[in-house]
Amino acid sequence: MSNSFSPVLTKRYGIEGSETLAVAEKHGVYTVARRALTEMTPDQLKDEVKKGSIRGRGGAGFPAGVKWGFLNPGPDNQVYLVVNGDESEPGTFKDRTIMVKDPHRLLEGCLIACKAIGAHKCWIYVRGELAHAIKVLDKAIAEARAKGYIGATPFGTDYPIDIYTHSGAGAYICGEETALLNSLEGRRGEPRLKPPFPAIKGVFDQPTIVNNIETIAQVPDIIEMGGDAWAAMSRLGPADGGSRLYGISGHVKRPGVYEAPVGITMRQLIDEYGGGMLNDERPLKGVIPGGSSTPVLRPDRLVDAPAEDHPLHAWHGKSEIDVPMGVETYRALGTMLGTCCAIVMDTSVNMVDVARNLMRFYGHESCGQCTPCREGSGWLVDLLDHMAEGKGKDTDTQLLADVANNMMGNTICAFAEGTAMPMLGLIRQFTDEFTEAAKNGTGAGRMDDSALALIGAAP
Ligand SMILES: Cc1cc2nc3c(=O)[nH]c(=O)nc-3n(C[C@H](O)[C@H](O)[C@H](O)COP(=O)(O)O)c2cc1C
Repeated sequence: MSNSFSPVLTKRYGIEGSETLAVAEKHGVYTVARRALTEMTPDQLKDEVKKGSIRGRGGAGFPAGVKWGFLNPGPDNQVYLVVNGDESEPGTFKDRTIMVKDPHRLLEGCLIACKAIGAHKCWIYVRGELAHAIKVLDKAIAEARAKGYIGATPFGTDYPIDIYTHSGAGAYICGEETALLNSLEGRRGEPRLKPPFPAIKGVFDQPTIVNNIETIAQVPDIIEMGGDAWAAMSRLGPADGGSRLYGISGHVKRPGVYEAPVGITMRQLIDEYGGGMLNDERPLKGVIPGGSSTPVLRPDRLVDAPAEDHPLHAWHGKSEIDVPMGVETYRALGTMLGTCCAIVMDTSVNMVDVARNLMRFYGHESCGQCTPCREGSGWLVDLLDHMAEGKGKDTDTQLLADVANNMMGNTICAFAEGTAMPMLGLIRQFTDEFTEAAKNGTGAGRMDDSALALIGAAP
């Protein structure tokens, strides 16, 4: 790896037994929580997190320090912390590494965040399929409780903090923060109308901060290093601070999760961290940058930002994959950084088949509450099935775009945008492929003779 950056969040990942309290403590875990709980005030903790400029790692990129500032509890309120470990978006697999490899650092982050926001209870909501992560976390909680770090008097203070895990049951929508809160309360996992936002009225109608696993796991490093020093690791300046986890999967030699400064480029992620394209004969065709909800980038598309005041002017004329990966830079590029987990696709991939695969997922996972999402996602699947099978019409590409556009901004939660945006991105970036499929299909829907033979149906 060609950079001099030293990992912060993942520095214990390679240490054997790092999920146990004894090893974690030997490597510094809980020293920051001890200091935070015994020596620092909530305002001091919040100030450091604000200075760290950490943008939420769950997908929307909202600054955590600002979110914490929205709390304004009344005298009868209980403030709660909920940590989102639902991690069900295709292509996204970073949070589970924290839960499994360094659970005590995550718990340390929960303790510090609880103190900062005035909470005494924290739930870590984990995707049900991540059974191993839940087991590891439960064990870590039990160890920390036995040692007196979690419970009635953490580190000898009179500030009780309890932390629990809560298992999801296999629904992607329960990653949406208000569906998650309903699920936590034992209700159907359907998103709530907002406002009120969770910071005002969250779980059990109480003020609640919902943050992603990585966001909370980075809090101890922010306090340990100081917000300014932590923020300065970023290559993008003070608006988007620190280091972060980058996931990379698909057609690369070394898929995995890597920590790097905020602001490396997609090209660096693929070449330096992912080890380059899997097959040297097949170059990069497109990359979905931040989980399946984010619009695709093309290496042969150049940034068009001639105006000097354009946020991407410095990259005018360069490839999209040479723009630094940040919340704002990617927004200006017409995509999103999302969860920062890239899906890399080489020239063997047909983008209509990609769309079809993704839309099947979204069609299956729509909670069905809002008509544009429920009907729209199913309609997209039907259209793409027809196209792939060679039964499309000339007008289908336009119809796909119309259906997707009508889903945007018309629903209770952002699931519909998360469905429509990648659909529209694929059409925008690879229009010809959709037009071609509308005429001739992609073949993906048909079974060849060998596949038919396998099921005893060969002609
Ligand atoms: C359909 C959908 C699924 C989501 N899934 C997750 C998830 O698995 N994990 C997560 O942290 N955020 C997820 N989010 C974003 C959350 O609603 C919320 O913004 C996030 O947990 C806040 O944490 P952060 O500010 O630390 O990023 C999802 C959003 C939507 C619309």
